[in-house]
Amino acid sequence: MDQGQSIFVGNIKGGVGKSTISAFLFDYFRIRFPKRSVQLLDTDRQGTAFELVEPLAKEGDVRHFPVSDRFDGLSLVTVDSILRRMRTEETSLTIVDTGAGWPGNVWQIAMICECIIVPTSLSWADLRPTIEFIREMDERKENNVTITPHLIIVPNRIPPGQRDLSKLSENLEGLNVVLAPPLSDLSLVRQMSSNFQGLKDAEGTRFYNEFIRLGDFITDYVLSGKLSAIFQDELEESKRF
Ligand SMILES: Nc1ncnc2c1ncn2[C@@H]1O[C@H](COP(=O)(O)OP(=O)(O)OP(=O)(O)O)[C@@H](O)[C@H]1O
Ligand SMILES: [Mg+2]
Repeated sequence: MDQGQSIFVGNIKGGVGKSTISAFLFDYFRIRFPKRSVQLLDTDRQGTAFELVEPLAKEGDVRHFPVSDRFDGLSLVTVDSILRRMRTEETSLTIVDTGAGWPGNVWQIAMICECIIVPTSLSWADLRPTIEFIREMDERKENNVTITPHLIIVPNRIPPGQRDLSKLSENLEGLNVVLAPPLSDLSLVRQMSSNFQGLKDAEGTRFYNEFIRLGDFITDYVLSGKLSAIFQDELEESKRF
């Protein structure tokens, strides 16, 4: 590995679990990779992920750089160069949480990341804008002729009785996306917002096991480069015909 890595968490739809997943991913990776420099960069003005994680993180590992074109935000160029600098550090792994709404130019930051994690519930209210977002990002990748960032869809807040993801996968047909293992709706997660202690507070729950599975999935497929190799092979194959 010659440069650091970064994971962008985004969706135009609000309230789908971007900040929650960012916070748990930060905790998962710092436990899984104690020798790496795991950091969280919150670019949302609301600073939800920053506030969740700050009490349990080492100073400087969690930063809040709101991107906005208003006076209270940093310019995109600044945040872009901050992330690029972080990526020059070989062992770094940065989780980037973003706000809801059309990403404006924030997608440029996504383009330098290894993957975009896109959480969504299975309700139409969430699915419709999510699919629109994915199409847009997929198109941008195609225009830039790049196989990264990988688009990873994370079904979130799935009621335990409803594990049928076929509606979701049908709607994703034809898009270059990967469906990650789903996360259950756990009321404990909602209550954690005020006093976040990380994954250990969810130990013993279904959500905990699912989250570990999600973290392992990202590690094994995205961070290892396995997914890139698969897509690269496919690209070569399609060029041959
Ligand atoms: N798996 C889950 N189980 C139960 N509650 C969840 C789960 N995931 C997220 N939530 C809850 O859903 C709400 C919205 O989550 P969160 O703030 O992470 O979404 P967001 O996408 O970051 O929202 P925004 O677009 O406003 O930034 C929070 O109250 C959070 O605790
Ligand atoms: Mg958020």
